[in-house]
Amino acid sequence: METPDFVFKGIQNSPEHVKTAWQSPSNIAIVKYWGKIGDQIPANASLSLTLDACHTRTEVGYRKRESGEKQQINFFFEGKEAPEFGQKSFSFIQKIRGFQPFLQDYHLTIKTENSFPHSSGIASSASGMSALALCFMSLENELAGGYDDDFFFRKASFLARIGSGSASRSIYGKTAVWGEHHDFIQSSNLYAVPHRENVHPVFDSFNDVILLIHEGSKSVSSTAGHAALNHHPFAESRYREAGVNMGLLKNILTAGDVAAFGELAEREALMLHALMMAGPQPFILMKPNTLAVITAVQEFRKQTQTPVYFTLDAGANVHILFPDEVREKVLNFIEGELVVYCENKQYICDRVGNGPVKQQL
Ligand code: DP6
Repeated sequence: METPDFVFKGIQNSPEHVKTAWQSPSNIAIVKYWGKIGDQIPANASLSLTLDACHTRTEVGYRKRESGEKQQINFFFEGKEAPEFGQKSFSFIQKIRGFQPFLQDYHLTIKTENSFPHSSGIASSASGMSALALCFMSLENELAGGYDDDFFFRKASFLARIGSGSASRSIYGKTAVWGEHHDFIQSSNLYAVPHRENVHPVFDSFNDVILLIHEGSKSVSSTAGHAALNHHPFAESRYREAGVNMGLLKNILTAGDVAAFGELAEREALMLHALMMAGPQPFILMKPNTLAVITAVQEFRKQTQTPVYFTLDAGANVHILFPDEVREKVLNFIEGELVVYCENKQYICDRVGNGPVKQQL
């Protein structure tokens, strides 16, 4: 499908009041999206595992606007009115105006909460933007008189992508791909697609324990990080390498090769941070404890032959990846040896999840 296919086609129903709510998860990329072209088009394809425990719950109330009335958008974060958080939602609504013009006809009350601490350094944009896009799609669905699931979720992913690239992948459970890649038929730069066929069951229950290394906001935002790729000496080779890794990862997922999966995840994570450190305006998002954890994980793996690996997002936190069969052993290792590196000993036990859940109101 192309961009014009996502323009709203016409109203069947015109309710005065509607309320919609969704819970949507975060995701962790194995092949990373880092670098974009123009308006939220990824410079390379990416593949992520959808998480479960880390999620955002968003509820949107819509009240028909009288003509001449100025549109009101009220935003509540974790029960409190929070206009500063609302700014992101507001600019998202402006950006998707062409695809959902009916949003201007309503006053909106947006209530949102995260399952993870706000200052944890866990990016909330993937779960937050996907939850909001799904809430807007539930309104659209009602106005349009009903869509099939395929179109509903595809357009939700299309809209979520405009809010935040990685959010496009959170629309689908288990494993999702965003960005065109010849090995993934149906893949698109405009929306994510689920990647479920030929994935070995070991990855359906994969664990991701997120070690919270550093609270507080990052010194460089992802937006600035993506932009740094525009004049980066290694950008082209990075995009080529990401393409190669997508092809490798597809085969690894089919084979259920956990060691190859973990090694690829680690290489991608280190390459992401190497790109940050090798750009025209270098920056470092890892902290000393990030490196301490990486070293400890690699050492533990070597000494105990346990399949445990790490990946990183654009921040200092470390995601510890491992299959279910070694769960107890790895949790003991984390408690015994890694917790000392976490801020306030905080970590979140997450795993692969089934994707967003519509909330009953
Ligand atoms: C390192 O999706 O946060 O987590 O599209 O500007 O909102 P925007 O960027 P964002 O970038 C995520 C970068 C990453 C890798 C990934 O999730 O693929």
